[in-house]
Amino acid sequence: MKNILVTGGAGFIGSNYINFILNEREDDRIINLDKLTYAGNLENLKDSENKPNYIFEKGDITNSEFVNYVFRKYEIKYVINFAAESHVDRSILGSEIFFRTNVIGTNVLLEAARRYTVEKFLQVSTDEVYGSLGPTGLFTESTPVAPNSPYSSSKTSADLMALSFYHTFGLPVVITRCSNNYGPLQFPEKLIPLMIINCLNNKKLPVYGDGLNVRDWIYVIDHNKAIDLVFEKGRVGEVYNIGASQEMKNIDIVKLILKHLGKGEELIEYVKDRPGHDRRYAIDSSKIQNELGWKPSFRFEEAIGKTIDWYLDNKNWWQRIISGEYQKYYETLYGNRI
Ligand code: NAD
Ligand code: DAU
Repeated sequence: MKNILVTGGAGFIGSNYINFILNEREDDRIINLDKLTYAGNLENLKDSENKPNYIFEKGDITNSEFVNYVFRKYEIKYVINFAAESHVDRSILGSEIFFRTNVIGTNVLLEAARRYTVEKFLQVSTDEVYGSLGPTGLFTESTPVAPNSPYSSSKTSADLMALSFYHTFGLPVVITRCSNNYGPLQFPEKLIPLMIINCLNNKKLPVYGDGLNVRDWIYVIDHNKAIDLVFEKGRVGEVYNIGASQEMKNIDIVKLILKHLGKGEELIEYVKDRPGHDRRYAIDSSKIQNELGWKPSFRFEEAIGKTIDWYLDNKNWWQRIISGEYQKYYETLYGNRI
């Protein structure tokens, strides 16, 4: 039995990961360490919470004493670090917590991993570390890092710190860099759930700038299968890009959601652009495909429909979220953009 520490397992991708893994395997024990920030929600784990090989520990990855206690208590030998402040717009409103959680928190985990001689440390990273592309070209693992937002610069710092622990101490670190995820349980600050929910509530759909920025979309299950493969078979000291080659302009996604929900385009509202807004992301995932045999199984056209249906079927989940602190966040961010 492997004792796997999963941090940030109450967030969007981490909870999908835990629910998926505990369905697949009974021989690993998952210890989920999560601070339960605004983005962490234990409701996401209702399918897993009663499984005998699932344990939840509420705590902060920046708290070294607590992190060491968890490593000791559960004899942690494997780590998958999802925990992060993850939203670019919030990093523009205030960057400090991004530095604290994403950089210092990762450093605390790496130090503990070194002390307790872990056998694999997977750092979940992002394609945003590579900066922005022009109209052509793809990010490969050898594209130089050139982050543009406080969020992406904190994730880049964490990646560099993790790689330095591999080179200096021989810690078995591996890094994944994935493109934009979508699917069930995504917090409605991100483009796709925000647009679905606003649409359902007949609220304006705030499109930044000219709406022509491009993101490369991947269904969350495909991302998590890739993480699992890299965790099991990825070579230490390496970076693996993950992406499904599904580039979309923001405005086309918004129009697709409107069409799917039978609403008119008059709901679209072009608003002031995000400062420093990266124009285009696109991933070359040939390394993970050729080396580990991964390939995505979901096409955007089909999985966006599944995603919209999930939000239609789970109104209670998001209604609870948008009735709380979210209101204040929405007014602060979008009040300044209109
Ligand atoms: P999320 O914001 O939905 O969840 C983050 C989780 O981390 C939450 O449960 C939160 O409570 C927890 N957390 C935050 N600070 C913590 C701390 N100090 N200690 C312990 N737990 C803490 O994020 P997500 O979208 O699920 O992203 C997960 C990871 O994947 C992040 O590292 C992110 O950078 C990366 N990533 C995300 C995407 C994407 O499209 N969402 C794409 C590529 C990579
Ligand atoms: O590329 C991977 C990254 O994808 C992850 O590392 C981040 O954690 C994740 O948040 C995501 O970052 P983005 O900034 O690309 O995602 P977001 O959903 O915030 O925005 C997607 C695009 O939509 C972007 O071009 C900005 C635009 N947008 C977003 C929102 C929230 C709008 O036009 N209007 C909006 O209201």
